[in-house]
Amino acid sequence: MKVLGISGSNRKDGNTAFLVKRILEHVDEEECYEIETEFVSLAGKTIKPCTGCELCKEKKTCVIQNDDWGDIAERILDCDVLILGSPTYYYDVCGHLKNFMDRTYSFYHDRKLAGRSAIVVSVCADRGCERTLETLEAFVNTHEFSYLGFVGGRGYLPGDILRDERALAKCKKVAGNVIKLLRKNSEYIKSL
Ligand SMILES: Cc1cc2nc3c(=O)[nH]c(=O)nc-3n(C[C@H](O)[C@H](O)[C@H](O)COP(=O)(O)O)c2cc1C
Repeated sequence: MKVLGISGSNRKDGNTAFLVKRILEHVDEEECYEIETEFVSLAGKTIKPCTGCELCKEKKTCVIQNDDWGDIAERILDCDVLILGSPTYYYDVCGHLKNFMDRTYSFYHDRKLAGRSAIVVSVCADRGCERTLETLEAFVNTHEFSYLGFVGGRGYLPGDILRDERALAKCKKVAGNVIKLLRKNSEYIKSL
């Protein structure tokens, strides 16, 4: 069972990355089950924007080449649970992650991501986090993930999130949802 965490922030060790990693750490604390966790930061990655060419409808994959999208997209195809995080930029997801999300249109036509589960995460300094979370939720709903919850945090400079005890507690709660799901799946597989 694979749990993949992605932070869309261009701050490699920023607040979003911290929350996504914190959820993964809580999932890792569950030692009884075969759970593999992985963290990917989009910081420093080249993600070209979708051009709207619609060729992916026919080719079943995004035709844009020579950037880092394909490798990360493969990891999403390979995961059971996705934890997707974005900093809040102007009350919404940051452009870097939006470019990444738009390119997954190539998976949408055949609902290649359907059946996975997702948690969404966002951090803002003051206001707008809710709308960012809505955008992320709309993204995972469109791809027919089942929704396991969200974490919204407050922080401005990298590391500020450590003072948001509510968000840190929520990380543990949503990690519990992931563990419950994986436990159920693993028991089902054993019963076959
Ligand atoms: C371009 C830009 C736009 C931002 N827009 C908002 C905003 O609309 N509301 C807000 O509360 N914070 C806003 N912020 C602050 C970030 O959300 C905040 O610094 C957050 O902690 C960044 O997360 P990160 O460390 O994961 O990158 C903005 C920051 C930048 C750089």
